[in-house]
Amino acid sequence: MPNNTQEPQAVCDPISRSAIFLTLTVARGEDQADTVRQWCGDIAALVRAVGTRAPSARLSCVCGFGAEAWARLFGAPRPAALHPFREFGSGERRAIATPGDILLHIRADHMDLCFELAAQLLGKLGDAVTVVDEVHGFRYFDLRDMVGFVDGTENPSGRRAADYTIIGAEDPEFAGGSYVIVQKYFHDLDAWNGLTVEQQEKIIGREKLSDVELDAAVKPSCSHSSLTTLEENGQEVKILRHNMAFGRPGAKEFGTYFIGYARTPAPIEQMMENMFVGRPPGNYDRLLDYSRAVTGGLFFVPSADLLEALPDRSPAAAASTSSSSAPSHEAGRSGTLNIGSLKGTAQHE
Ligand code: HEM
Repeated sequence: MPNNTQEPQAVCDPISRSAIFLTLTVARGEDQADTVRQWCGDIAALVRAVGTRAPSARLSCVCGFGAEAWARLFGAPRPAALHPFREFGSGERRAIATPGDILLHIRADHMDLCFELAAQLLGKLGDAVTVVDEVHGFRYFDLRDMVGFVDGTENPSGRRAADYTIIGAEDPEFAGGSYVIVQKYFHDLDAWNGLTVEQQEKIIGREKLSDVELDAAVKPSCSHSSLTTLEENGQEVKILRHNMAFGRPGAKEFGTYFIGYARTPAPIEQMMENMFVGRPPGNYDRLLDYSRAVTGGLFFVPSADLLEALPDRSPAAAASTSSSSAPSHEAGRSGTLNIGSLKGTAQHE
């Protein structure tokens, strides 16, 4: 079967107004693993059942699996670049790894649809999972995040979004899949709002009201937008972000949920290293003086077709059918961004 026919999950759907992010751990035991595998085959039908009642709200769900969970639930072969979340930085400024076997990224323009789908999905999983993190996110006014800036402006769109996020010929067995990294950030909003707008703009690298990028002559090399701009072989390497604001004003909790998709984790990891360690080291992202990452997870997002086929993919079944065609697990670990040569690959036509 040609691999370029695999339908991706809703990774590249447009920015929504609401989202629920659920991080789950799977209980030990064969019955629990089997419940999760069977559930994978039900996800698409549940999205249809809930979403068809309000089509204009564009309900979608993306489901991803952590490295350890993939091995335990589905065995070999495993996605070539899937590994546990890598930590960056030290002391107060640290990108930490936290537990997570399954990530659910549920999106819609109305929170009631996200809520209903989350409840239905969790209901089917029952005791097989524990919810270790749940965030209900929203977009502020004109698509701003919790620090008050428009977020998502430089996202690739259309065909380019798929080129930057959807796995192609580099890992044929998992073509149509993607990788996603999430981090939940809390902001010290009193301190952030104590800065002048000009100081905030220099930290982000864009004008706050107009969202226009600062002129190169005044934009610091440690601005968030400078440190997250990557080039490989003279070409910009992008990721796709669907960040959301969240919080509880009564508890003085103000946050941004970062979620970034790419066809290998490498560019997102490079951006985190630039932000937390600095480029060069020490020239770090000042947004982190006002923001603390309290979670960190890396997940593989199978194609929609593979997700529906996962009920038949227990480690035992995989062991009996897998052969010498297992992909190299070293791909994506070479230290390069590993996607430059793949730009323009026509796997989405
Ligand atoms: C506290 C959490 C974060 C906040 C509030 C935040 C906010 C923003 C804002 C306001 C922009 C400018 C508008 C835009 O292009 O979207 C931006 C750009 C960007 N951010 Fe973040 N971000 C956060 C974390 C991260 C992380 C952890 C990464 C990657 C590891 C990241 C990657 C990017 C990228 C790639 C851009 C576009 C840069 C460009 O091409 O100009 N962000 N972010």
